[in-house]
Amino acid sequence: MKSIAVLTSGGDAPGMNAHIRAVTRSGLSRGLDVWGVIGGFSGLIEGTMIQLDRKSTANIIASGGTILKTSRSKEFMMPGGRAAAAQVLKEKRIDGLICCGGDGTFHGAHFLGLEHGIQVVGTPGTIDNDIYGTQYTIGYDTALNTAVEAIDRIRDTADSHGRVFIIEVMGRHAGFIAMEVGIASGAEYVAVPETVTNLDILYQRILKQGRQRRTIVIVGEGDELGGAYQIGAAMKDKYDIDAKVAVLGHIQRGGSPTVRDRVLGSHLGVAAVDALIDGITDVMVGRVHGEIEYTPLEDTWSKQKPLENYMIELSDLLT
Ligand code: F6P
Repeated sequence: MKSIAVLTSGGDAPGMNAHIRAVTRSGLSRGLDVWGVIGGFSGLIEGTMIQLDRKSTANIIASGGTILKTSRSKEFMMPGGRAAAAQVLKEKRIDGLICCGGDGTFHGAHFLGLEHGIQVVGTPGTIDNDIYGTQYTIGYDTALNTAVEAIDRIRDTADSHGRVFIIEVMGRHAGFIAMEVGIASGAEYVAVPETVTNLDILYQRILKQGRQRRTIVIVGEGDELGGAYQIGAAMKDKYDIDAKVAVLGHIQRGGSPTVRDRVLGSHLGVAAVDALIDGITDVMVGRVHGEIEYTPLEDTWSKQKPLENYMIELSDLLT
């Protein structure tokens, strides 16, 4: 193996730069040329790449986003797009590719490997933490901290005015962000897709707050009753509760990564390079209880990572 490439794909996540830095530096220390694909799979199809070195990866560990940019490429979902990308890799004599992203990224990487014999390794980079085969994903910890900081501020207003706030957090179809953020911010109710959202219980909890009514409700965007606006409207219709709605949105995706995300991104970067050197392909390199684990790429989307029961119980007990 002489030359490898790394790309980031799907939603950007804090810690991706630490990951790119680690891939580059461990690759170089093992005598490899390291290429960075600009713009995820779209950039790979177009052949937009830069050679990475110590200098180009200096001073990026503390920054959010991804210096390599990212995309959600529709073209790469089609065989023609993947064939064009494979051609680019062959022409540039790149022997192995590291794809950092979520399950959409791993789908693409899997089929690129299968159809064109390219050695591919995935690494979990998404704020959602919804990837089977790793305890945490790169970006999750930062997103949690960013959301909790924002909710602490909203709590001041909720408290001062005695208001009900319904706050929506990201997470796509999974409730990891909502559940942990709900516990950490002392929310009165947490609505996640993994549990049945019960508006009667929510109403009882609002009543329990007494005349002051200060209540924080956290809603994961994938909840079966809809987002915060839908739940707010239902509370007005059913119980005449006037709630303020806040959707945190993309504020959760940006910002300087936490120590946890920098370390995770670095650890997985080095492990992904090791995997390529060892001839491993079609796996995601994840980390479970501090240990590196390989999971077949297919399992990352066909198997579901459950929201731990203890978290659901803890949240119920403490609200
Ligand atoms: O997967 C990360 C994520 O931020 C999800 O939480 C959210 O549903 C989605 O991406 C938003 O994607 P986009 O930025 O493309 O609208």
